[in-house]
Amino acid sequence: MVVEVKDLSIYYFTLNGVVRAVEKVSFNIEKGEWLTFVGESGSGKSTVAYGIINLVPSPGRITGGQVLFEGKDLTKLSPEELKEIRGKEISMVFQDPMTSLDPLRKVGDQIAEVMIEHGVDEKEALKRAKELLRSVNVPEDRIDYYPHQLSGGQRQRIIISMAMAFHPKLLIADEPTTALDVIVQDSIMDLLDALKEKGTSIFFITHDISLAVERSDRMGIMYAGKLVEIGKVDQIIENPHHPYTQALFASTPDLWVDKKISSIPGFPPDLRNPPPGCRFYPRCSVFQSKDELKKVCDVVEPQMVEVENSHFVACHLYR
Ligand SMILES: Nc1ncnc2c1ncn2[C@@H]1O[C@H](COP(=O)(O)OP(=O)(O)O)[C@@H](O)[C@H]1O
Ligand code: SF4
Ligand SMILES: [Mg+2]
Repeated sequence: MVVEVKDLSIYYFTLNGVVRAVEKVSFNIEKGEWLTFVGESGSGKSTVAYGIINLVPSPGRITGGQVLFEGKDLTKLSPEELKEIRGKEISMVFQDPMTSLDPLRKVGDQIAEVMIEHGVDEKEALKRAKELLRSVNVPEDRIDYYPHQLSGGQRQRIIISMAMAFHPKLLIADEPTTALDVIVQDSIMDLLDALKEKGTSIFFITHDISLAVERSDRMGIMYAGKLVEIGKVDQIIENPHHPYTQALFASTPDLWVDKKISSIPGFPPDLRNPPPGCRFYPRCSVFQSKDELKKVCDVVEPQMVEVENSHFVACHLYR
């Protein structure tokens, strides 16, 4: 196991109230596996990603739980210790590559800098930077370009090349292809696959279920700050258990080719004041149709239970 996330909670302490963005989320990432989290916008996916590397932006803060990376709790490390791990053992790719690139410096220098920071000498680092560019199919002469002279796809490749500099144990990719067209998107996914082939675990985040299904080994579904279901991709796709997962799939045209598409009624809750018990109950058709669930779902928080080997669901239907 590379990462073990235990009961992770992350809140944003805003002037308008406390946003309970991630609440008691637990999961593992195994060595060399590709785990994808899906969920609607605002469900807490990015916050989980920031939480893993202990980089939650202000006014956010980890309020509980642990992130064990090879046995070390990353929530307890000093900024210096974290810096040593980030970029080398854990790399990150975000939706907008410009957030990770300095617009005023040549990309070659920026790739080399990642290595220099971790002790590689300058000449060697620049040589490696060229090799890395080639390995992500960016022409070597781009080493002297500034970020704005490159396309969005090339910029994202450059971020991935930085991640590849050290064969990280974990790569966190938060919607890395959302801003790119489909063909470029595919080539970026291929690069991530190549990293996985070399033993890197991938934690991938997307709101696009068809993208999640394509390459992942396992997938998790987030709703309103909670992880509601997690398992192998086949298990989840063929046999979704959580009413939210079922509703989400039923509202996804690509997955449900011959079935009727139906949108989920209502809206996700305001995370400053989430519903008690199961956060999905106000929208759950199962809850509304079964009397025995009344006074349970809207009061008691459902815990994760294993419904089949390595397939977990948090819903009172499966107690
Ligand atoms: N900097 C912030 N300040 C206040 N609330 C935030 C901040 N970032 C995210 N949130 C809130 O946290 C929740 C989860 O957001 P996020 O993790 O970005 O979700 P996702 O990545 O699934 O779209 C949302 O309710 C969002 O409004
Ligand atoms: S716990 Fe109850 S309200 Fe929540 S998804 Fe399950 S049945 Fe629906
Ligand atoms: Mg996000």
